[in-house]
Amino acid sequence: MDSVKHFLQFKDFTRAEYDHLFERSRWIKGQFKAYRKYWPLSDRTLVMIFEKASTRTRLSFEAGMQQLGGSAIYLNSRDSQLHSRDSQLQRGESVEDAAQVISRMSDVVMIRTFEQAMIERFAANSRVPVINGLTNEYHPCQIVADIFTFIEHRGPIQGKTVAWIGDSNNVCNTWLQAAEVLDFNVHVSTPPGYEVEPARAGLYGTDHFESYADPMEAARGADLVTTDVWTSMGFEAENDERRRDFADWQVDLDMMRAAGPESLFMHCLPVHRGEEVEAAVIDGAQSVVWDEAENRMHTQKALLEYLLLGRVEAAASK
Ligand code: CP
Ligand code: NVA
Repeated sequence: MDSVKHFLQFKDFTRAEYDHLFERSRWIKGQFKAYRKYWPLSDRTLVMIFEKASTRTRLSFEAGMQQLGGSAIYLNSRDSQLHSRDSQLQRGESVEDAAQVISRMSDVVMIRTFEQAMIERFAANSRVPVINGLTNEYHPCQIVADIFTFIEHRGPIQGKTVAWIGDSNNVCNTWLQAAEVLDFNVHVSTPPGYEVEPARAGLYGTDHFESYADPMEAARGADLVTTDVWTSMGFEAENDERRRDFADWQVDLDMMRAAGPESLFMHCLPVHRGEEVEAAVIDGAQSVVWDEAENRMHTQKALLEYLLLGRVEAAASK
């Protein structure tokens, strides 16, 4: 099953593949906005496996698959036989067995889970493409949507600077991979003890990111300022400690002023206003978070099309 193409982390695709995806996202979004039907995936089935909660990822994949003419099936670990964290739930079917069965009844699988190793094991036993819908390590679909949103507002991201303020989490790791693939820079500022670990971020180089002790300096002059919750899903036991440790890592209006008037603000959502970002920033003029959320759907439709049909050119898809 080695020949199946999966999307497990950002660096699985090349810059040329992203250029194609962004172009297709633009075209697919245009069709949606014009109420034109585009059903290239009729009779195709997406299975979505959620071991963590979701609003955007579930909705954008399910609505997107339906808009492409296909159907989507939702499974969660509460009422399926799949529990990748066997220690918590005794009765779990193995990931390998689940992959064999699920991939014989579907055309593509999206998984949101804890360890990245789980989706790698699933993919190794899957006959169909597997998409990472968030793991502890990465959130590649989010960053495809974020970069598409940046391009819509500001043009190509090559050579630009993204400031990441806060936790060196799955979303941060994915920005760091994206910077290497697409050739832009990331300025990261985390509290002491939460620094980026290049190995965990899956980096093959460190030329595209720079660490800053002071979040204000990381944001200064950045084309995009972005952040995320202080405590990610699965780490709730650290909540109180993190609230204390991250108190000075809030994106506020002063930080956006340091970035400059042309700088955009993004957040993958859900947000905790008053913690990682001041309400006046996320609800202010520089914020593009609603476009960013909507673009999850358009970019994932392009991803589904690419994984199932290969490179579709605009002229062939009319
Ligand atoms: N940004 C994101 O993935 O949101 P959900 O957790 O709601 O899917
Ligand atoms: N870093 C967050 C992202 C949620 C979309 C988490 O993993 O919980």
